[in-house]
Amino acid sequence: MSLFQFNPYIAPFKREEADNALDDGRGPSPDMPCHRLQNNENPLGPSPDVIEAINAVAPTLSYYPQFSDIELRRAIVETLGRGLTPQQIFTGCSGFEALELIMRAVLMPGDEVILSSPTFAGAYKKVSLPLGAKIIDVPLEPETFRYRPEAVLAAISERTKLVMICNPNNPTGTLISADAIDQLMRGLPDHVLVLADEVYHHFVEDDFPDSLRYVLDERNIVIVHSFSKAYGLAGMRLGYGIARPDIANAIAGLHRGFHQNKLSLAAGIAACRDQAHVQRVVACLRGEARWVCAEFDRLDIRYWKPAANFILFETRLPADALQEELRDRGFLLRGQTGNGLPYAMRLSLGTREANKAFINALEDILNTSR
Ligand SMILES: Cc1ncc(COP(=O)(O)O)c(C=O)c1O
Repeated sequence: MSLFQFNPYIAPFKREEADNALDDGRGPSPDMPCHRLQNNENPLGPSPDVIEAINAVAPTLSYYPQFSDIELRRAIVETLGRGLTPQQIFTGCSGFEALELIMRAVLMPGDEVILSSPTFAGAYKKVSLPLGAKIIDVPLEPETFRYRPEAVLAAISERTKLVMICNPNNPTGTLISADAIDQLMRGLPDHVLVLADEVYHHFVEDDFPDSLRYVLDERNIVIVHSFSKAYGLAGMRLGYGIARPDIANAIAGLHRGFHQNKLSLAAGIAACRDQAHVQRVVACLRGEARWVCAEFDRLDIRYWKPAANFILFETRLPADALQEELRDRGFLLRGQTGNGLPYAMRLSLGTREANKAFINALEDILNTSR
């Protein structure tokens, strides 16, 4: 009798490394006085209304939640406006899970997924490869990180199923323009679905593509949003997708029963209803982006103009070494060697206090390593 086989497409997972990571998810504390500037989290936290809603529902946790997530979907469409209906929404336990549900709903072995690196490729591959899909990389233009719709269209084959668009893009923080998306959407054949990962959309100041328009026009597109970023609910693990009703319905068909937990449902609804909080967060972090960029200018550090709550920058020090040096000084940041950028680091914007302390530490490291 032969032994059972694991799915051969699952990528190796360094579990022990993950278990021993310094990041325990608690945030800075007297035991761990560090600045968490590595996960693009929201340093201002969630709306106080969300905390209140979670506290109100906590005593009822012995009962299952409502079977359907309809109340949350209603709150989401009230927030988005544009005449969207709950039939155009499906929810996920995180933006990541929303991506996963989409991929599970459409990908079959041999299908091709086009992505444009450097991007959130690790996550996209983690889900699509075990489904037997093949990754086709059509990289962003080197140096500028411009998205190349013409090159993506040229790479489409009969096996192409998904085109991934990450906008604003992680880790570059750059924006894909409305014109570029328009050009892509005009040229796409009907057998291809666009997956627009827009979890940082709140932070964009201008020239953001009107991707909801494509949903309203019944095009082949699914947009993914998250409660982890501007809403400050990364620890809650809540996200959603927006698509034509037939697409949203097929994806929601993968939900298990009682899919969303009660705390997430209450938190998501309360978060949607406090848009003033989101506006405060966005205004604050845009201000922090301007302040940090001015400091990078002063220090003659190269960076890419951010459209999100994080900034990609480059120094003359290898990113892996700089990441270690910063960690020893209490700053958690992500080096981008794994994304093919061995001198680049990604800084998640923190409070002014954290950003100032980070700039001081970076200046000191650069001066002492001359
Ligand atoms: C581009 C992008 N997409 C999706 C996600 C997933 O977000 P979450 O699973 O926290 O909702 C992230 C998280 O950092 C991200 O950067």
